[in-house]
Amino acid sequence: GRRWTEIGSLDAELAGSTVLIRGAAQAIRPVSKKMVFLVVRHYVSTVQCVLVVNKECVSPQMVKFATGLSKESVVDIEGVVSIPKDPIKGTTQQVEVQVTKLFCVNRAVPNLPINIEDAARSEMEFKKAEQTGEQLVRVGQDTRLNYRVLDIRTPANQATFRIQCHVEDIFRRSLLSEGFVGIHTPKLVSGSSEGGAAVFKLDYKGQPACLAQSPQVHKQMAICGGFGRVFEVGSVFRAEDSYTHRHLCEFVGLDVEMEIKEHYFEVCDIVDCLFVAMFDYLHENCQKELDAINRQYPFEPLKYLRKTLRLTFLEGVKMLKEAGIEVNPFGDLSTEAEKKLGQLVREKYDTDFYILYRYPLAVRPFYTMPCYDDPAYSNSFDVFIRGEEIISGAQRIHLPELLTKRAEACGIDVKTISTYIDSFRYGAPPHGGFGVGLERVVMLFCALNNIRKTSLFPRDPQRLVP
Ligand code: 4AD
Repeated sequence: GRRWTEIGSLDAELAGSTVLIRGAAQAIRPVSKKMVFLVVRHYVSTVQCVLVVNKECVSPQMVKFATGLSKESVVDIEGVVSIPKDPIKGTTQQVEVQVTKLFCVNRAVPNLPINIEDAARSEMEFKKAEQTGEQLVRVGQDTRLNYRVLDIRTPANQATFRIQCHVEDIFRRSLLSEGFVGIHTPKLVSGSSEGGAAVFKLDYKGQPACLAQSPQVHKQMAICGGFGRVFEVGSVFRAEDSYTHRHLCEFVGLDVEMEIKEHYFEVCDIVDCLFVAMFDYLHENCQKELDAINRQYPFEPLKYLRKTLRLTFLEGVKMLKEAGIEVNPFGDLSTEAEKKLGQLVREKYDTDFYILYRYPLAVRPFYTMPCYDDPAYSNSFDVFIRGEEIISGAQRIHLPELLTKRAEACGIDVKTISTYIDSFRYGAPPHGGFGVGLERVVMLFCALNNIRKTSLFPRDPQRLVP
């Protein structure tokens, strides 16, 4: 058959050769009855295609046909790659295609609810337009999410979900190479694991049940079952009430649980090697994607150290205090305090990625191991990117009596979690782990301002469709 060329690989080396490409007609710009420009897009790449009436292959009818195409119609184009006299503005590829054949594979409706060029504009373009008086259309978040199939066609969105795929892939690969086993735990469960009322209740054949808030219970039971080191990539459900830039009702959890030999820092070591490998990989292999995101949402590359910075919770409290922010040393940090600490850490240590450990016991879930030397604190940690939490983790209580006591102290009806507690009666090693929010990692790595940008079809307190 004929050779297809990806739009993204059209370059000067192909000048003079005939190529066959497929893409969406993103823009149609007629110059006259004899000439029309088409901007054709595929994935993150766009190329300018030119139809000029000539004796050999382009008739006036063909120019008319091209001019009458609706935006986003899928087209197949055969043409000759050429190098334009002047550099092309507004396309990713620096070559043109002189069209010889044009076929419309599928026609889009004429009045699209979202124009992709509008949806792909940066804040910078809006600022410039304000000065020149040009009228540009802004596409609001609800419109974007209502017509997500169109919205995700923008280069920045295409790139975001490819980066997300790599994050997940590195997570799996790094852990497999460290001796972890991938598991799948049930999402239909009998009760809450992270406490609170934030569960989606459902009826399980007449029995009250809910959607799992995390794989917490079962990943720990896998450790009791002798797996040693496990990980899971799976959906996590939270019936969040608050509508924020960083909470979803369904997100992808990257979970880890492992035996601890001597110290729960072994768990932090896994965070360290996993994320340094991930950030390195993204910088080395996803430049095209990062560029596409940067064109629409410019951001500073993430700063991270070869050995991840670790600060105690109280060191963080002290840094905040020195900056004039009082926080309760036995309470949790507010979102604002976390953000501020992120700035302070960046100024002092030149990193956007760090671990804060030894949190007050009172602000952690009941299954968290108290510190041996001070039971007001716990063997736990959170991990931050640019001052926002992406991970929470800890050593777990593997002693059934202590676990029962802590559950009771946290107001949990111990009967409802008896099979979980019993799992630790048959010989269970000390262990710990952590949970990562995939959408948060991508959002914060790329400094995006809303988690809905990194969820393909987001589920939030107000949205169940599309
Ligand atoms: O902090 P969380 O609730 O911790 C747990 O689920 C524990 N079982 C983890 C563990 O192994 N100790 O959630 C873990 C991570 C958070 O750091 C955050 O990145 C993400 O999951 N997350 C959310 N992401 C999007 N929307 C939400 N509503 C989220 N809630 C938590």
